[in-house]
Amino acid sequence: MNLNQLLAEATARLAAAPLSYGHGTSNARDEAAWLVLWSLGLPLDTDTDADPSPLDPAAVQQALALVQRRIDSREPAAYLTGEAWLQGVPFHIDRRSIVPRSFIAELLADGSIDPWLSDRTQQVLDLCTGNGSLAVLAAMAWPEVQVCGADLSADALAVAQLNVDRHNLQDRIRLVHSDGLAACPGPWDLILCNPPYVNAQSMAALPAEYRAEPELALAGGEDGMDFIRQLLADAPRCLTPEGVLVLEIGNEREHFERAFPHLDAVWLPVSAGDDQVLLLTREALTA
Ligand SMILES: C[S@@+](CC[C@H](N)C(=O)[O-])C[C@H]1O[C@@H](n2cnc3c(N)ncnc32)[C@H](O)[C@@H]1O
Repeated sequence: MNLNQLLAEATARLAAAPLSYGHGTSNARDEAAWLVLWSLGLPLDTDTDADPSPLDPAAVQQALALVQRRIDSREPAAYLTGEAWLQGVPFHIDRRSIVPRSFIAELLADGSIDPWLSDRTQQVLDLCTGNGSLAVLAAMAWPEVQVCGADLSADALAVAQLNVDRHNLQDRIRLVHSDGLAACPGPWDLILCNPPYVNAQSMAALPAEYRAEPELALAGGEDGMDFIRQLLADAPRCLTPEGVLVLEIGNEREHFERAFPHLDAVWLPVSAGDDQVLLLTREALTA
């Protein structure tokens, strides 16, 4: 069996299983490529047509065993490989933290937040940092700023520390154990936040792959807004006068607008749509 034949076999096995995607891939073929290439020790951008020679049968069995683990365990591929990629940057990941996939990463990469910053932007908070991916990407995007990553979960902070170390950003990123903004009052020039925002009804219907992640990272109470209510109440006194908050809310725009009908939010388009991430100035928060 050569690489392309192995990929076809892995894709067929995944496609025949009742799996859910969304943790870095969106379909069986891409998930198969990730698992097979990782198992073979090949880069994820390998040209699979380049070498049609037969693979070592033991390596084939090992790759197919990993595919079977994905099917049997229903865990996201990233938990099985211990690695996830966001905006081309690799992150260590394990079950202690949610798999990196925030759409705020796109905004850090494409410069959409930059017009809201100034020469005076120095202090950036990644609230609900989890695996630390947004803190790392923010430090990479803005070499002149200091970043703080805060989370309520000590387990998640341990994963974040692995990623800060992996990218040698110890002198730019500090990690803080905090319930919301309680232990990180700022003032911040910019707060990035991908909080737990999944409403109770959606939580009850989550596929197994999402239930494999820490509930603390996802569940946002009845309407998904529990954490966000407290955050919006606390944020004005934790932002500098020109400070802004960039907040991800996933598919919860309806709940958000019902909870905060008078907020003047700026919606920042991402690949998933223009209602997933919003920006609030301190001025808008205090109006
Ligand atoms: C959706 S995850 C985001 C993780 C990471 N920023 C990312 O985008 O991949 C939400 C994170 O919020 C943390 N969290 C939940 N409640 C919190 C609270 N009250 N204060 C601080 N962090 C909290 C969870 O532990 C989890 O790591």
